[in-house]
Amino acid sequence: MNTSGANDMLESISPASLADRAITYTAVMAKSLYRLMVRRVKRTADVVDSEYNQQNWQKMLASKSWLSAADLAGFLAPADSTERLRKVDNKILRIDGQRYYRYRTSALSDLILRHAGDARQIVELGCGYGYNLFSLHLHRPDLTFKGFDIAPNGIAAGREIATHFALSDKISLDRIDLTNANDPNLPTIAGQTAFTYFCIEQIPYDVRKVVENIIAARPKRVINIEPTTELLDLTHPRDLVSLVYIRSVDYQTQLFSILDQLEREGRIRILARERMPFAPTINNDGFLYCWEPV
Ligand SMILES: C[S@@+](CC[C@H](N)C(=O)[O-])C[C@H]1O[C@@H](n2cnc3c(N)ncnc32)[C@H](O)[C@@H]1O
Repeated sequence: MNTSGANDMLESISPASLADRAITYTAVMAKSLYRLMVRRVKRTADVVDSEYNQQNWQKMLASKSWLSAADLAGFLAPADSTERLRKVDNKILRIDGQRYYRYRTSALSDLILRHAGDARQIVELGCGYGYNLFSLHLHRPDLTFKGFDIAPNGIAAGREIATHFALSDKISLDRIDLTNANDPNLPTIAGQTAFTYFCIEQIPYDVRKVVENIIAARPKRVINIEPTTELLDLTHPRDLVSLVYIRSVDYQTQLFSILDQLEREGRIRILARERMPFAPTINNDGFLYCWEPV
């Protein structure tokens, strides 16, 4: 897929003004503080099921929006003129959703493929309906992709999308519960290159268990891309906004410290530590660790 046109267009956009950033950061901070004080979320499995399986993925499944898209690229970046501050190549820009998601498909592929080595098959754990896998396919149609998620509606939507775009031989989806050491699909990741993308964020009370279950399944390599409070630099106003946001929605806050500890214990080898160069909002940065079981 040729995304260079989309990326060239983004390069011509100036970074958001100081006033624009100050107003947005203040608004997000105020909302997060309100959430923390008035309707604090405890991110249990039931809350996650309600938010994703019963709402987001159910809506996606019911919308069948892929049927009206001209092609896969159009499905992944539909018309969306809502402008907001987003992180693009490490700059904070005010841009619309369509331009952001066109850019994101290539940025995500560059990032994952840079860490995936020579893997011919890539697995996503907690893939939802497979948005990331369909994005990766646009750039590497020669590879195969497998997605696993706990949400039946996400899996059903992903399977319908794959069938619609005649990709069922390239992209498959199945169920997994990463918190269950005896899940029948955990052993299928043995020897595979697997990634998580904003999935472990949703399992804040079982992070260590999930990491142990993944290690026990003996994947070749794991790429975790998740938001966290652990690696934020609180001298930066945007990171302070992220900290309060993450606390208010009860995302995970220990994954990267656990991985650092496992490396000190000689159980894993960490190959890369990075901060994500892109994010759809100013308060949703991900961090990346790429590691292998020893
Ligand atoms: C924020 S969504 C991200 C989905 C996808 N990675 C993406 O970027 O579009 C988090 C996903 O994690 C899944 N999830 C939550 N708990 C899980 C568990 N215990 N095992 C597997 N998946 C889980 C949810 O169902 C949801 O689809």
